[in-house]
Amino acid sequence: LKKIGVLTSGGDSPGMNAAIRAVVRTGLYHGLEVFGIMRGYQGMYEDDIFSMDSRSVANIIQRGGTILKTARCKEFFEPEGRKRAFENLKKRGIEGLVIIGGDGSFRGAQKFSNEYDIPCIGVPGTIDRDMAGTEVTIGFDTAVNTAVQAIDKIRDTMDAHDRVFIVEVMGRDAGYIALHSGIATGAENILIPETKTDIEAIIHGLTEKEKRQKLVNLIVVAEGEEFGGADEVAKVVRQRLPKADVRVTVLGHIQRGGSPTCEDRLVASHMGYYAVESLLLGRKNVMVGVINNKIHYTPLDKAVKEKHKIGQEWMKIVKILAS
Ligand code: F6P
Repeated sequence: LKKIGVLTSGGDSPGMNAAIRAVVRTGLYHGLEVFGIMRGYQGMYEDDIFSMDSRSVANIIQRGGTILKTARCKEFFEPEGRKRAFENLKKRGIEGLVIIGGDGSFRGAQKFSNEYDIPCIGVPGTIDRDMAGTEVTIGFDTAVNTAVQAIDKIRDTMDAHDRVFIVEVMGRDAGYIALHSGIATGAENILIPETKTDIEAIIHGLTEKEKRQKLVNLIVVAEGEEFGGADEVAKVVRQRLPKADVRVTVLGHIQRGGSPTCEDRLVASHMGYYAVESLLLGRKNVMVGVINNKIHYTPLDKAVKEKHKIGQEWMKIVKILAS
């Protein structure tokens, strides 16, 4: 193995730059030539590929986003598109790929490497933390801390005005950001896609609190929750409790940006390093994960098929602590 490529794909996440840096510098350390592929599979298809040196990843470990940029490439879904992408790699002699991204990116990698026998190593970069085979993903820690800081600020107003606040955090299919930020900010209710939303129980709880003159209430909602997000939940609460002063805040993409936390920089450096080491050892089509603080490899197809399960125990704890 002499030449490898690295790309970021899917939604960006804070810490992706730290992972790129680790891949490039580990590759150079082993005497490899490392190519950066711009805008994920789009750059592979459009031949937007350049040779990287140690300087090209200087001063990026602390930056959010991704210097390689990211995109969703529709041409890569087609066999013709993948063929053209492969030819662009072949003409440079690129023999292995490190793909930093989420489940969609790994599905593409799996398909590509089956067709062209090019080893692909996945590095989980997503704020959602929704991959099997790893307890951490690059960007989650930063995103969840951003959410906690924002909700703490909202709590001041909530308390000053005796309001019900419904805060929507990211997570179309996964409730980890909602669960962690909700617990850390003392939310009374946390609504996530993985569990059924018991709206009657929420209304009941709010009614009881109204009786006790405790009108402050924080509900943290994942965007993919059953009702369809914070606005929808607010509609029901306003209808059923006309006296409640309800406000909605949608945190949105602020959760995806910003300087990565120390934890995300460490995880990204660790995984980036092992991604290159595993290519050199001849591994193919696996995702580098971390379980119990140890590097763990999971076949790409398994990492995208099986979802992390959110323990019901947590939901019980949420209820007890908020009562
Ligand atoms: O997968 C990361 C994520 O931020 C999800 O939490 C969210 O549902 C989605 O991406 C939003 O995607 P986009 O930025 O394309 O709107």
